[in-house]
Amino acid sequence: MKPLLEIKNLHVHYKTFEGMLKVLNGVDLTIAEGEKVSLVGETGCGKTTTIKTILQVLPIPPARICAGQIIYRGKDILKMKPREIRALRKGEITAIFQDPLSALNPVFTVGYQLEDIIKHLHTGREQRSRKKIREQAVAVLRETGMPDAERILNNYPIQLSGGMRQRVCISEAFSTASRLLLADEPTTNLDVTIQDQILRRLDELVEKNKTSILLISHSLGVVKNVTDREYIMYAGNIVEEARTKDLFADPLHPYTRGLLRTVPKLTGEGISKGIRGRIPNYLNPPQGCRFHPRCDHTMPICRKERPPFYSAGDSHRVACFLYGR
Ligand SMILES: Nc1ncnc2c1ncn2[C@@H]1O[C@H](COP(=O)(O)OP(=O)(O)O)[C@@H](O)[C@H]1O
Ligand code: SF4
Ligand SMILES: [Mg+2]
Repeated sequence: MKPLLEIKNLHVHYKTFEGMLKVLNGVDLTIAEGEKVSLVGETGCGKTTTIKTILQVLPIPPARICAGQIIYRGKDILKMKPREIRALRKGEITAIFQDPLSALNPVFTVGYQLEDIIKHLHTGREQRSRKKIREQAVAVLRETGMPDAERILNNYPIQLSGGMRQRVCISEAFSTASRLLLADEPTTNLDVTIQDQILRRLDELVEKNKTSILLISHSLGVVKNVTDREYIMYAGNIVEEARTKDLFADPLHPYTRGLLRTVPKLTGEGISKGIRGRIPNYLNPPQGCRFHPRCDHTMPICRKERPPFYSAGDSHRVACFLYGR
């Protein structure tokens, strides 16, 4: 399959009062055309930093991109001009975030916001009447499973529930017909039943529109039924990648195994049942394998050298010395 997006050796630091936080530590990640991929790791692992870098919305400073490439359809996003980035966000890459309330403008009705996006997609000779734009807004909102879409369009974001607001954000994302959807924990703040409904609908829309998706979550359970391939991230490194079925059948990295043992919600505060300890301080991250202070299998080499990727079968790779020869 042709790669749509390739992240190569991405290093991102944050400059703070205490010093430099070395967060992303050489991230490699590929998404093929039409592929459904997830990025999973505890809170604080660097998932949002990764997608903010793709979207070029990182706050610089304090953030600094120290090295790496993000190749989108053959071109490095990190070298694009502002005009090219704007075009990318308009028709190629869209995002939905954890908190739909902050993504929506509180002073306009959701209808106004959705119609505004649709209007800007049809410019020049393609211009549409207000009635046609309204019809399209109702249609895209309905597709997300929103009940009573016509009436909802007259509401302000604050008048809707969290699940409804997320459906509005999803309909905004799909009305731009982009090739790649970056979904950053889109259901984390929602009730479990609503979470399932929204994920299922998201999955249907991705299939129907042949969009590629990078679905981010702190829980393996959430992505299990949606994505074809998984990347597991720990403290700014990808530590394992595999097809979803292979990852669940045969998780290899001690961190992945820990994640599978944990209860659904992880907060990064060291409460996880499956993994002792917590995410390291990025001011002075552990040498060698960043996971070694929390690992039950640490060997002397783990404290000194960074584990390379070892192949563990077709499309399955793991960065851990246990699998070296
Ligand atoms: N604006 C910022 N300023 C300073 N440090 C930041 C900032 N954003 C993120 N970080 C650092 O990067 C780490 C990873 O953050 P993030 O990418 O949001 O992780 P995740 O999305 O996996 O929870 C945080 O724990 C924090 O140390
Ligand atoms: S490389 Fe060593 S410390 Fe890191 S996960 Fe593997 S065994 Fe544990
Ligand atoms: Mg995040």
